[in-house]
Amino acid sequence: MERSLVLVKPDGVQRGLIGEAIARFERRGLRLVAAKFIWVSKELAEAHYAEHKGKGFYDGLISYITSAPVMAMVWEGPNAVAAIRQTVGATKPWEAAPGTIRHDFALEVGRNLIHASDKPETGERETALWFKKEELVEWSRAIDAWVFEK
Ligand code: RTP
Ligand code: MG
Repeated sequence: MERSLVLVKPDGVQRGLIGEAIARFERRGLRLVAAKFIWVSKELAEAHYAEHKGKGFYDGLISYITSAPVMAMVWEGPNAVAAIRQTVGATKPWEAAPGTIRHDFALEVGRNLIHASDKPETGERETALWFKKEELVEWSRAIDAWVFEK
């Protein structure tokens, strides 16, 4: 089953949008695997955003993600990475499709509320970076056969 890391970033937490984000992923049919509310260290922020090191927005990005607590989660499902990125919307909120979280609640790229893994391999790597193996919950739901075809 494909997995994605999802972060409700500091602005999403401050604005009371944790529940809104969770409700959308639950409603979509995705299954929660892990969750924790944490204040991200500089080390974890730098490891998470290593691909952006050297870019003009990097320093601002690290101070943004470490500025207040985040809600970190792992969600799974068939095509979870693409489905979650669709629900989250494009990186630049003014380009995000109507009905997406970034469209409905955000205006600025540097305050775009949510992180979601960009590829299935990234989902695996980021899950391992943010969560210990024992924090990942293997479970099934009574309704799974009505949401997941296989
Ligand atoms: P994320 O990693 O947070 O889910 O967002 P993303 O895949 O949609 O976007 P990505 O290219 O990975 O960028 C990571 C985060 O960096 C900030 N950013 N600022 N000022 C800028 O031009 C700029 N570009 C990116 C955003 O917060 C973006 O989500
Ligand atoms: Mg990204």
